Amino acid sequence: MSDQKPPHTSVLAAQILRLLAPKPGGAYLDGTLGAGGHSELILQESAPDGTVLAFDLDPQAIQIATNRLAKFGERVRIINDSYKNAAQYVEKGKTFDGILLDLGVSSMQLDQPERGFSFQAQSTLDMRFGVGNIPTAQDLVNTASESELAEIIYRYGEEQKSRQIAAAIVHSRESAPITTTLQLAEIIKKAVGHSSGKIHPATRSFQAFRIAVNDELNTLSEALPVLVSLLRSGGLLAVISFHSLEDRIVKQYFRTESTDCLCPSEQLICTCDHKASLRLVTRRAVTADAAEIAHNIRARSAKLRVAQKI
Ligand SMILES: C[S@@+](CC[C@H](N)C(=O)[O-])C[C@H]1O[C@@H](n2cnc3c(N)ncnc32)[C@H](O)[C@@H]1O
Repeated sequence: MSDQKPPHTSVLAAQILRLLAPKPGGAYLDGTLGAGGHSELILQESAPDGTVLAFDLDPQAIQIATNRLAKFGERVRIINDSYKNAAQYVEKGKTFDGILLDLGVSSMQLDQPERGFSFQAQSTLDMRFGVGNIPTAQDLVNTASESELAEIIYRYGEEQKSRQIAAAIVHSRESAPITTTLQLAEIIKKAVGHSSGKIHPATRSFQAFRIAVNDELNTLSEALPVLVSLLRSGGLLAVISFHSLEDRIVKQYFRTESTDCLCPSEQLICTCDHKASLRLVTRRAVTADAAEIAHNIRARSAKLRVAQKI
């Protein structure tokens, strides 16, 4: 990969800079480093002494971003772990001015056939972001029950034909295990029949398996309070999501944590004693404009929400 052409185009970059407003001397946390595009912008804006603590599960992304950000020297520290474990790497009492999550899979991961995220090329069915000891997509499609598969495909893929696909997978694996991306894509394509939509019939199911393999929604839910605890008062949390369920988790968390009393509306006296810890910076999700989408199709489904710690 050359330095001139980033392997992944960072989405909503201008909006992130405007809303996070990195400043000299500021401390920032990038939970999903990827190719390091957002981190690079934050380091440039917060020059000469702003810092970034960055995380990614993917050792290849870490290597690419480490090379890209080497010019910032000790202003950046990069850790190969999940953002949900961020607190373990932060010294007691240290807080951040801004924290960013840019969720999901990067273009460079999709472009690496051996990772198994894409059905554009023949590969083993891996789909793990990291190299951790967790079941791969191959383990999942060959061992989950038919109803579990249907549930995963329906929930995470929002696929109407989830039951037909699950039945076809179970039928196919009865004769031999499913081991490759193209094999799985073909089974799904046959089960769905001719798709009227513009996307390949396996797109939604592949997304669903990736989300399930990496436990992406539970990770996000668990991490949000951890990340808020790492913000200074007045610090900002920005989350870019690409899936309606992710966005819903962020939206609901921000809404709950920006509300004082959570008692039922018919209850006259508050007994929950809940106090808002956040202030909404974006009332509605920020989305990419037509020019950005024309340049980067991934930006089409990006939704950015920002909240400020009170
Ligand atoms: C959309 S990319 C980020 C791109 C990055 N913002 C940039 O500008 O280049 C998402 C990255 O998050 C990583 N990732 C996904 N889940 C993660 C997690 N729980 N912890 C850390 N990194 C994660 C993926 O490996 C991927 O590299």
